[in-house]
Amino acid sequence: MKRVFVNGYGSIGRRIAAVISDDPEVELAGVGRHTPSGDIRAIASGGIRVYAPAARVHEFEGLGVSGTIESVLPSCDLVVDASPGGMGARNKRDLYLPLGVRAVYQGGETSPGGGAPSDLIFNSAANYSGAAPLDHVIQGSCNVTGMGRIIGPLRAAFPGRLERLDVTLVRRWADIGQDAEIPDTVEISRSPHHGDDVLSYMGTDVPLHVRAVKVPTRQMHLHLLDARFSGGAPDPGDVHAAYAGAPGVAVLWGAGGTRQVREFAETAGFAFGDTGMVHLHAEMTSSAGDTVKMIYSDDQTGIVIPDNHMLVQAMLFGRPYAEARAHTEQVMGTAQKRRLLEERFAR
Ligand SMILES: NC(=O)c1ccc[n+]([C@@H]2O[C@H](COP(=O)([O-])OP(=O)(O)OC[C@H]3O[C@@H](n4cnc5c(N)ncnc54)[C@H](OP(=O)(O)O)[C@@H]3O)[C@@H](O)[C@H]2O)c1
Repeated sequence: MKRVFVNGYGSIGRRIAAVISDDPEVELAGVGRHTPSGDIRAIASGGIRVYAPAARVHEFEGLGVSGTIESVLPSCDLVVDASPGGMGARNKRDLYLPLGVRAVYQGGETSPGGGAPSDLIFNSAANYSGAAPLDHVIQGSCNVTGMGRIIGPLRAAFPGRLERLDVTLVRRWADIGQDAEIPDTVEISRSPHHGDDVLSYMGTDVPLHVRAVKVPTRQMHLHLLDARFSGGAPDPGDVHAAYAGAPGVAVLWGAGGTRQVREFAETAGFAFGDTGMVHLHAEMTSSAGDTVKMIYSDDQTGIVIPDNHMLVQAMLFGRPYAEARAHTEQVMGTAQKRRLLEERFAR
């Protein structure tokens, strides 16, 4: 059985490790931790093998670690790196390349060029098959994945008619369960990378202009999207119909805000309280002249997990897209979550 190591066990790493453990076709070889804190004992006694960096393993004594990251990697077929933004590139240089192990990186890495660990930003719906032969691939960030989920079906439903896209990203400050202090400010993000990242997998034929601010909440990102069409903007109903079969998009009515959506996910028992998708807030879709305005929220922690799982399948098994999608669905049950969400927030 193929062995996958998850290096980094924070917000994203713990979710990826859980989905790898739930998949009967791959084995979770272990997870890498870098700070010797007491919670490692609980992770290890829960049945997950924890490894520490060789240079500091002595600091982890008594915490139940199984050995060093350097000793376990050669027996692994793939690493999913879930380290803090920018560290993946360093891990590639210092660990993965010298040990000859293939790796997936997360969206906090620099965009392609300028020291990025890969030239490919993965989006399962856009460039699935391009990842299979590669040894190093970046999974797009939560905002980049969310934009792709919305823009892809829109382009497919109205071929050749999209003329320009403007997206304002309203980004969450921290994740649920993170200790980070949340300051009372709206922060302006200068030169956000997200638009270029989306264009790298979506193609540059439709201009995409992105600006971003960060607000003091832990409850998801929210995107405001204006789409300009040639030949007049379609009706909201036709826009919503574009998402009928789209993976990872729920069309919701009457949700008062992002917290209400997450609270439903928690009450319904979704793993980690994640929906794993974007939520199109349907009553906010309007159409006037050549422009459709839309608002959707983006489950920051959950949205990248199905795509990471698809990427693991592409790189380990080279599976056709439809088969991989069906397997991810079987392991994660996203379509059922979407059904429940759409029932709860029905028109
Ligand atoms: N959070 C999100 O909503 C979100 C969404 C999409 C993408 N991402 C991206 O996912 C990546 C991880 O983000 P996160 O939010 O999960 O971060 P996080 O919660 O801060 O977790 C980071 C983890 O990496 C470990 N770590 C520290 N140094 C490391 C190293 N040199 N090599 C490997 N692991 C190391 C940390 O271990 P210790 O705790 O033991 O120090 C911790 O377990 C980033 O690229 C981020 O941009 C995050």
